[in-house]
Amino acid sequence: MSAFPITRLRRLRRTDALRALVRETRLDLDRFVMPLFACPGEGVVNPVEGLAGIAQRSIDEIVREAAQLQALGVRTLLLFGIPEEKDDEGSGAWDEDGIIQRTLRALRAETPGLTLITDVCLCEYTSHGHCGVLRDGEVANDETLELLARTAVSHAEAGADAVAPSDMMDGRVGAIRAALPETPIVAYAAKYASAFYGPFREVAESAPAFGDRKSYQMDSANVREALRECTLDLEEGADVLMVKPALPYLDVIRAVRDRFDSPVWAYNVSGEYAMVKAAATAGHLDERAAALESLTAIRRAGADVVVSYWTKELAQWL
Ligand code: PBG
Repeated sequence: MSAFPITRLRRLRRTDALRALVRETRLDLDRFVMPLFACPGEGVVNPVEGLAGIAQRSIDEIVREAAQLQALGVRTLLLFGIPEEKDDEGSGAWDEDGIIQRTLRALRAETPGLTLITDVCLCEYTSHGHCGVLRDGEVANDETLELLARTAVSHAEAGADAVAPSDMMDGRVGAIRAALPETPIVAYAAKYASAFYGPFREVAESAPAFGDRKSYQMDSANVREALRECTLDLEEGADVLMVKPALPYLDVIRAVRDRFDSPVWAYNVSGEYAMVKAAATAGHLDERAAALESLTAIRRAGADVVVSYWTKELAQWL
C-alpha cells in the first residue's frame, strides 16, 4: 500500500452510496432471532421494568406478537416459559401440557413458517432457581442430564424446530443428542456467569434463590476454556455454537469463529440491551444508532446469527 498522499482512505467515505459499496458487515433480518417469554393466563402482557419493550405474554398474546413479527419479516423465535408452578426438580419443563409445549402447539397452528427454537433449562421451573437439581446444596450434574433430555424431547414433540440447552451441565448436548438424533441443537457452548443477565431473570422469574451460577457457568476471565467447551459440544453432537453474552465477549466470538467451521451464534443479552435503553431514555445516546453499531460489532466479531431483544425494532429500522 502506498502512503499518503497517494493513498487517501477518506476517498471511499465520501457518500452514503460509496460507504455502502465498501461495507464489510451487514445486518439482515435472516440473521436475527427474537426472544419471547410465555406465561400463564389470557390477554396478559406484563411489561418488565428493566427490559423496556419486552414483556411476559400469555399464549394468545405470544401468538399475536409472533404474527406481527412474522409480518415484519422476522423468521426465528427463541422461546422461554414461565410456568404456573415451580418445584424442586423443575418438572414443568417437560410437562406435556407445560407452558412451552402449549406455546409451541399454538404457534405451529397459528404462525406456520416461523422457526421455533426453545431454551432448554430448568432455572425457570425449579423452586430454587438453579439450572439443575440439587443434592446436598449443590447442582447435581449427572442427575440433571436426564431431565434436560426429557425436556428437549417434549419440546421437539410439541413442534420445536431446534432446541437450545443453556444450563451448562457437562454432557448435556450428548444426552440430548442421544434422545433426539434429528433435532438441531443450538448449544450455549460458551456461556459465562455474567452480571448482564439481571433483567432477564426479572422477566423469566429465574434468579437463583441462593448462591450464584459460578459452579456451572464459565468464568468471565477465560477464553481457552470456551474453546474446550465448544470442542466438547461439537463432539457430543451440537450443530451450532453460541457465545453468551455478546458485547463483553467479542474476543471469544472471534476466537470461536477462527477455530471452528460450524455456525457461530451470539446472544446479545438482556443487560446489554437494557444499558442502551436506559442511556437512551435518559437522553445520553441515540438508541437506534447505538443498537445498530452494537449489532454490527457482534456480526463483525464473527457471529453468523445474533439473538437480540432489538430484533423487532431492527425489522422496523431496516
Ligand atoms: C437460562 C438462561 C438465562 C439467559 C438465557 N437462558 C439466564 C441465566 O443463565 O441466568 C439469559 C439471557 C439474557 O440475559 O438475555 N439459564
